[in-house]
Amino acid sequence: MLMFDSHINLCILSLVVLALPLVFLYRRKQPKLNLPPGQTGWPLVGETIGFLKPYPATTIGKFMEQHIARYGKVFKSTLFGEPAIVSADPELNKFIFNNEGKLFECSYPKSIGGILGKWSMLVVVGDMHRDMRAIALNFMSSAMLRTSMLKDVETHALLVLNSWKQNFKFSAQEEAKKFTFNLMVKNILSLEPDNPEAEALKKAYATFMKGVVSAPLNFPGTSYRKALQSRFTILKFIEKKMEERNQNMKEGSEGLDNDLLNWVLRNSNLTAEQILDLILSLLFAGHETSSVAISLALHFLPGCPRAVQQLREEHGEIARAKREAGEVELTWDDYRRMEFTHWVVNETLRLGNVVRFLHRKAIKDIRYKGYDIPRGWKVLPVLAAVHLDPSHFDHPQLFDPWRWQNNGSRGGSAGASNNVNFMPFGGGGRYCAGSELAKLEIAIFIHHLILNYQWDLAEEDQAFVYPFVDFPKGLPIRVQRNVYL
Ligand code: HEM
Ligand SMILES: *[C@@H]1O[C@H](CO)[C@@H](O)[C@H](O)[C@H]1NC(C)=O
Ligand SMILES: *[C@@H]1O[C@H](CO)[C@@H](O)[C@H](O)[C@H]1NC(C)=O
Ligand SMILES: *[C@@H]1O[C@H](CO)[C@@H](O)[C@H](O)[C@H]1NC(C)=O
Repeated sequence: MLMFDSHINLCILSLVVLALPLVFLYRRKQPKLNLPPGQTGWPLVGETIGFLKPYPATTIGKFMEQHIARYGKVFKSTLFGEPAIVSADPELNKFIFNNEGKLFECSYPKSIGGILGKWSMLVVVGDMHRDMRAIALNFMSSAMLRTSMLKDVETHALLVLNSWKQNFKFSAQEEAKKFTFNLMVKNILSLEPDNPEAEALKKAYATFMKGVVSAPLNFPGTSYRKALQSRFTILKFIEKKMEERNQNMKEGSEGLDNDLLNWVLRNSNLTAEQILDLILSLLFAGHETSSVAISLALHFLPGCPRAVQQLREEHGEIARAKREAGEVELTWDDYRRMEFTHWVVNETLRLGNVVRFLHRKAIKDIRYKGYDIPRGWKVLPVLAAVHLDPSHFDHPQLFDPWRWQNNGSRGGSAGASNNVNFMPFGGGGRYCAGSELAKLEIAIFIHHLILNYQWDLAEEDQAFVYPFVDFPKGLPIRVQRNVYL
């Protein structure tokens, strides 16, 4: 007994003796850090499971609610295997965006890079990011939007809408995806929607997407493994297209395809692998997001008949003016005239929050508003938490397009158009390259939808955060064609 006791005592003593210098070292290495409050949870896993637990898209979720209530809008945690600072503070978020590359850097988990590719735009940093961003911005420049893209957007919206049958129940989200996917592959690879190649690509892409959003377990049979295989299939396909184009260029018959692939081949020094990853990331960034945004609008609007009525008036007026002028295709001026629609777009993005939070890391030791953010820590700006904060938007849970009137006088103290409180597209050096295209897609889709149909939600469905936003049932709707006298 005594032996046993003293043995334990000895153990404890030696542990203390061994641990003391460690504690000391730890203390010395990080002098008087003033970290934000918070808890770190289990090692490695930390609070990741709570953070990623699905919740309705129009809320900030239990995790954020409880943590903000306990610790405030900036708190520390352990997420995705690393110590992390989580920010629901619009000022800090803006500070993070404006110091991209200087104090902070994009830092997505390894699994995302593994599947989107090491040259994906969402992953690359520094000069490589600058070059790829220039290509994306050039491709979606306002000149491109006004000329070729507006027409494409309208054509593809009508193509999808005209295929709808009355009284059938169908998934609005699938239809929205069809629209945005067809539009992207047309602009990137000049593929037409009924083309078998486009269909094959869409299939491979769907499998790929399932893996992007699944747990990164690389075993036979897992979604992640299947996705890596589809990634390979897609890359082979794009490679084949590239060879065709290079062949055409040699033969001097290059002028036909006014798409991103041709532009990149002619105007950049990117390697084949880099071009493949760039295209894949544009396809990903450009089609999942805006299709979810359209679905969210279709979900919110039936709950607000006054907004549907006002949309009818606005688009009816535009259509009438065009009929009188003998015009058929929408023009940029028509798009500019869709004032109320723009409020609806902003309100949909504010309440639905297609992109919930972003991944960054501190690349220097940073002090912000008295808090320390140590170098190497993850930093997660949570855009949604600002958009749904009652101190920035009155009744944030309410779908209220009119809050965007008069610069958002009903949007809270700072006003809804105050771009610190409303950042659905991120900010700074990584501000969404496709934001203008996304708004154009949503507005034009709504234009033809409103002119042609009335729709009802055929089944109760609600968007959830997984953390990508998705309708579990695909948002089933039924439509009736409008009858014109
Ligand atoms: C409603 C629809 C959309 C939303 C809410 C959205 C949101 C965002 C956000 C928040 C980022 C910043 C990511 C980060 O900082 O880590 C981003 C980046 C990006 N988005 Fe979008 N996006 C949308 C539609 C589109 C579309 C249609 C395209 C067209 C291709 C697109 C292309 C991109 C690209 C290329 C980037 C990377 C920019 C860079 O790293 O420089 N997005 N988007
Ligand atoms: C491609 O590389 C060449 C030589 O390295 C350079 O002169 C040219 O400007 C580069 N082009 C682009 C678009 O970066
Ligand atoms: C919509 O939000 C943007 C900020 O992303 C703002 O610049 C714009 O003025 C808003 N639109 C309207 C109609 O308020
Ligand atoms: C809205 O804000 C813009 C600039 O931020 C300003 O020029 C304009 O006068 C404001 N409009 C109203 C109605 O407050």
